[in-house]
Amino acid sequence: ASKQRLLVVANRLPVSAVRHGEDSWQLEMSVGGLVTALLGVKEFDTRWIGWAGVNVPDEIGQKALAKALDEKRCIPVFLDEEVVHQYYNGYCNNILWPLFHYIGLPQEDRLATTRSFQSQFDAYKKANQLFADVVNEHYEEGDVVWCHDYHLMFLPKCLKERNSKMKVGWFLHTPFPSSEIHRMLPSRLELLRSVLAADLVGFHTYDYARHFVSACTRILGLEGTPEGVEDQGKLTRIAAFPVGIDSERFIKALELPEVQDHMKVLKQRFAGRKVMLGVDRLDMIKGIPQKILAFEKFLEENPNWRNKVVLLQIAVPSRTDVPEYQKLTSQVHEIVGRINGRFGSLTALPIHHLDRSLDFHELCALYAVTDVALVTSLRDGMNLVSYEYVACQESKKGVLILSEFAGAAQSLGAGAILVNPWNVTEVASSIGYALNMPADEREKRHHHNFKHVISHTAQEWAATFVSELNVTIVEAQLRT
Ligand code: UDP
Ligand code: G6P
Repeated sequence: ASKQRLLVVANRLPVSAVRHGEDSWQLEMSVGGLVTALLGVKEFDTRWIGWAGVNVPDEIGQKALAKALDEKRCIPVFLDEEVVHQYYNGYCNNILWPLFHYIGLPQEDRLATTRSFQSQFDAYKKANQLFADVVNEHYEEGDVVWCHDYHLMFLPKCLKERNSKMKVGWFLHTPFPSSEIHRMLPSRLELLRSVLAADLVGFHTYDYARHFVSACTRILGLEGTPEGVEDQGKLTRIAAFPVGIDSERFIKALELPEVQDHMKVLKQRFAGRKVMLGVDRLDMIKGIPQKILAFEKFLEENPNWRNKVVLLQIAVPSRTDVPEYQKLTSQVHEIVGRINGRFGSLTALPIHHLDRSLDFHELCALYAVTDVALVTSLRDGMNLVSYEYVACQESKKGVLILSEFAGAAQSLGAGAILVNPWNVTEVASSIGYALNMPADEREKRHHHNFKHVISHTAQEWAATFVSELNVTIVEAQLRT
């Protein structure tokens, strides 16, 4: 049988474009959990529709880029600078992102945000319509159209209005907050209604799904059932589909000579010291300052560890045009500088902080050689870094310290040391506990997590979502 055609629609394409000339483009891997999860999706005939991360005002450039992307089965949506500013930097990353992660609106420009709210929401709707136009252009009857994340909450409605028979799913990669938070959005009604136009709506955890259903019952006054939300006889299925990673890709990579070489170099570089690892996009939800402050407290209280442990923090630059992210960069640099000044010696620094991304092989090597991973998200939809760390630790059996506010805490909770990232005292003592953990306990904890990571993969996640979507549609037809 031929494979099911799948149109994946997400703001971010798996590759981002860098321009080298009038008609010449270079494609780089994009960073983020959404891309990682979707790259693991294999058993479908998949096309991606999304934004390539650049402004391409001229037709020659657009044609050349579309052609380069076509080889990766990607189809670009072109957004002009003003739309990107208002939709991506503004509505998505300055309003929805912080609200969905319980950070609240940016403190300093709350009033400015309040004023520009309507124009940003208009740009959001306009951008979603542009995505819908590209979907319609490439849609063939029978295709499954899978919309992703908070950037595209308006898309299911745009698609269904034009073609009510289209199979439309929507999945949220972030938390969905309590209805008390969602209530604050001036566009609260429209956003919920447009998501409900989808046939199936998915979340990482049962809690997020429950929050969404209660937002629909309390804010829209609709009826919540065990299956989903009902509006005048029309049911939208709501369910939890926890994502995973393509664990084999990581496990296999560890055998590659270039990864082995990286591992050798790293082991030599940090010989005699325990290495703790943090890998995050530089984002306020990741709790990077909280993590570093906890590490400082640990060093303060444990002078005997001062020359024997190092924290390697990879902070991948992200959303650099949004002021909150710029502020966070300088805040983190300041704390790192202060602590290195305080506890560093002529030969060693306690924190190695990098403002850059790593290539896949370097990343795998780091995951494999480090002793402890520190994930201190204040909120996080799932957090795939924690899964990747576990996948790469079969030989070392390192310890995962994991925030209870990451979706992953619900799946890796039994093997990880769970912490409240706001409680610096607790995180500091967990660092000590992890560094001193006896081998048999490490082994037991690792084994627990490893079993989960290899048996809950991205492939399965996608297959389950798509098959559930197909079933939902058949059931809906039977009802009418
Ligand atoms: N990542 C990457 N390059 C890097 C660092 C990280 O591609 O230099 C990837 C990492 O492997 C992971 C993703 O970025 O798959 C981050 O996903 P996660 O779910 O942890 O957080 P998100 O960035 O989506 O908030
Ligand atoms: C999170 C979001 C994704 C996003 C990624 C990277 O994982 O859920 O939708 O792609 O962060 O952020 P960016 O803004 O660079 O796409």
